[in-house]
Amino acid sequence: MSYKELKCVDGILLDDEEKNEMVVTPWEVKGRVDYERLIREFGTQPITDELLQRISKHTGDLHLQLRRKLFFSHRDLDSILDLYEEGVKFVLYTGRGPSGPVHLGHLVPWIFTKHLQDKFDTRLYFQMTDDEKFVVNDELKLEEAQNFGYENVLDLIALGFKPDNTFTIFDVKDIGLLYEIALEAAKRITYSTAKATFGFQDNTNIGWIFWPAIQAVPCFIHAKLTGENVPALIPAAIDQDPYWRITRDVAPKLGYYKPAQIHCRFLPSLVKTGKMSASQPESSIFTTDSPDVVKRKIWNAFTGGKATVSEQKKMGGDPYICSIFKYFAYLFEENDDELAEWNRKCRVGEILCGYCKTELTERVNQFLVEHQKKREKARDIIEKFYIER
Ligand code: TYM
Repeated sequence: MSYKELKCVDGILLDDEEKNEMVVTPWEVKGRVDYERLIREFGTQPITDELLQRISKHTGDLHLQLRRKLFFSHRDLDSILDLYEEGVKFVLYTGRGPSGPVHLGHLVPWIFTKHLQDKFDTRLYFQMTDDEKFVVNDELKLEEAQNFGYENVLDLIALGFKPDNTFTIFDVKDIGLLYEIALEAAKRITYSTAKATFGFQDNTNIGWIFWPAIQAVPCFIHAKLTGENVPALIPAAIDQDPYWRITRDVAPKLGYYKPAQIHCRFLPSLVKTGKMSASQPESSIFTTDSPDVVKRKIWNAFTGGKATVSEQKKMGGDPYICSIFKYFAYLFEENDDELAEWNRKCRVGEILCGYCKTELTERVNQFLVEHQKKREKARDIIEKFYIER
């Protein structure tokens, strides 16, 4: 079955009021996210079937997140493949802003990044932006952000990234490695560009204004460490794209390749209003949640079901807007035919929300039991993943 039959994964309802203005920035996502509009407004490229075919030449079967077009947009992915086919390798770069525990949405691009690391046998630079979260969040102490950074890396390691090929950067601890390139980048980004890109205001603190130069650095760090100038490919949700716009402008001025991106959609919030965030714990499932908490969150989740059982049996539900269905589509139902069956049965009223919630609770808890064990074991090997080791 093709991704087209899974079109229902396209309608991500992040907020109650559809008329709400869509906002997608690195710090805020709200309103109904219109991904086609984002492609137009951000000036990115859609991932075409032709590009998917090209990727599959190198990876074999397409990863679930590509088949279902959860990764839907890119910049220069075709150039990365051109270079790769000419024998120029690329490195991967992604990251995390540690303001709380990791939720399942964060795992979406990381799982895909791991797939790329395996298939292309390439390095990953992973940036833990404790400094970013400290400057943008009035409530967060620096030490808290650093502690979350440590805890969040355990989640990355638990996914099975290869230590020899994975280099984590903790910004505050590793600033010595980053600072020279950050200065070179910062000198070439005007305040008016940064303001137009990020919407800075007069009352924005100056730490935040300098900060984007630091997120640019890992795009180029490989050259500094190894002397090898190769492009970086960044898998992340589309909220991070503004950073890459300014980084791509600066790259040629510094003698580097423009970094390429591959953008994914957002795993939606479990509650109808509001986005998935640590400040609204019921909106997402954290990797450290206990089975009971997972069960409660899933049972309280927003679905596409009707008000009564008889109505639902008669008219069916709407997986297009259902957060539970999205969890299956993004992470917990690998088989495309099975997913199409969930979709069909829901639409014709053959299954009810309780059935889907029970099944999802079981699958999430099964995954988390294993993940949490691996997370604990990761404490013993974390140093193998440090960039300076
Ligand atoms: P952060 O911590 O907000 O998010 C970490 C990664 O998770 C993605 N993401 C999601 N993906 C799918 N569904 C969701 N609901 C969802 N929520 C978040 C984000 O796009 C991101 O990829 N400034 C960054 C840290 C960073 C970074 C990077 C991220 C530094 N360098 C390079 C990506 C690539 C941040 O605060 O991410």
